[in-house]
Amino acid sequence: MSFPKDFLWGGAVAANQCEGAYNEDGKGLSEADLLLGGNYETPRMFCSHIMKDHFYPSHQAIDFYHHYKEDIKLFAEMGFKTFRTSINWSRIFPHGDDETPNEAGLAFYEDLFKECKKYGIEPLVTLCHYEIPWGIVKNYGGFTSRKTIDLYVRYAKTVFTRYKDLVKYWLTFNEINGATTAMGQYNGIGYVAPEDLASEEPIPLNQLKDDPQKRFEGLHNEFVASALAVIEGHKINPDFMIGCMICHVTWYPLTCNPKDLLETEEKDLMFNDFCGDVQVKGEYNPLAVAYLKNHGIDTSYITDEDLAIIKEGKVDMYTFSYYMSNCVSVDPNAQSIGGNMSMGLKNPYLKASAWGWQIDPDGLKYTLKKLASRYPGVPLMVVENGLGAADSIEEDGRIHDDYRIDYFRDHIKAMGEAIDEGVPLIGYTTWGCIDVVSCGTGEFHKRYGFIYVNRHDDGTGDFSRSKKDSFNWYRKVIASNGEDL
Ligand code: BG6
Repeated sequence: MSFPKDFLWGGAVAANQCEGAYNEDGKGLSEADLLLGGNYETPRMFCSHIMKDHFYPSHQAIDFYHHYKEDIKLFAEMGFKTFRTSINWSRIFPHGDDETPNEAGLAFYEDLFKECKKYGIEPLVTLCHYEIPWGIVKNYGGFTSRKTIDLYVRYAKTVFTRYKDLVKYWLTFNEINGATTAMGQYNGIGYVAPEDLASEEPIPLNQLKDDPQKRFEGLHNEFVASALAVIEGHKINPDFMIGCMICHVTWYPLTCNPKDLLETEEKDLMFNDFCGDVQVKGEYNPLAVAYLKNHGIDTSYITDEDLAIIKEGKVDMYTFSYYMSNCVSVDPNAQSIGGNMSMGLKNPYLKASAWGWQIDPDGLKYTLKKLASRYPGVPLMVVENGLGAADSIEEDGRIHDDYRIDYFRDHIKAMGEAIDEGVPLIGYTTWGCIDVVSCGTGEFHKRYGFIYVNRHDDGTGDFSRSKKDSFNWYRKVIASNGEDL
């Protein structure tokens, strides 16, 4: 296996899932700060105000805000070449539409990025990872408003300018394609229907009123915002590498019934490829537009002026998350299984995690090859991949997470094979390299890290960090550039 010499090995987190300090140093509320914790069976709940006596996982999270020096030192010990995190937009513009940015927020990230550079770690920074300032959600309807495009671009220009010599790799929106499903309406475009906004009672996140017309219009506005950010970013520093970030759920037809294949092709187009096509190729796929029209979406929001912006603001790289594959069938009796944004059907050849996510390293190889063919010459990066599992601590304090090591070994092997077969993969950041709050369930119990954090779903724990067995294993993998698995 031949990983390139300068391959970007590392790990990934998101601000709202690790930082905590949700109201410190001038930070405003973000949409993530209004979500309660849930679990595999119980969905997370949303309420438009903070309810007393409820536990909000993001409010302290793993307190990365106060532990980042210690954590980055541990990442450096593993040999990270890159560290992916996001800027919490509401630390910079607390309400989203403030006249001036919050200096304390800007200073925090400056320090954080300098700390990375001290160890030769390249920051890889997401501008918007499910953490739109609450003021924008409440007052503008998130990205359903054109005004939010301006607010986003101003925010992007502010951080691009401030960190132009510290950060080279940027992602405009995390898992932008989440907004093609109802689950992405809140997290992705930050829209809540007026009746849900007015509710005094918490509402399960998966029961918020879905408005597909607004959702796809909001997604379009994100495409325009992303393209403008790319254009402005390259003016600020022509060396910036700015990427899209797609949640890639790989689909297989459950059977060779041609109808299963047709269904699979449609899901692949609308969930996986629709957004990547717009951001990488700079144009809407006509089949995707036809699909929207056939499903009752008025696409007159796609104007010539916006299309010209989208064409000019193509991304420099394609990055994606990959956790699982799922099957597709027209058979109403086929057995369904979990997923993150988009659910699917059980594959009899695969095992699943305790949270029902099917484990499929071959699917990663297949996906990398598919993407390399679809976007020839465009550098690819896997910016999320990992196993959410409940870890247990032995009496001697050690954590033997061999299941996680197995997961990573198989996926890294699959990446190596894909590279050998011609895929231009430039980096790999494992998800939740240190335990963080789960995005889907709001749990601490669903752990992804090489580093264990003593923090629990009942709000207990002293935030202390300890190394799992996978810590030393990943250090060895990086040191051998993927040879010693
Ligand atoms: C991705 C998100 O969908 O999956 C992350 O970008 C998230 O924010 C990750 O944490 C894993 O999902 P979960 O629900 O297990 O945290």
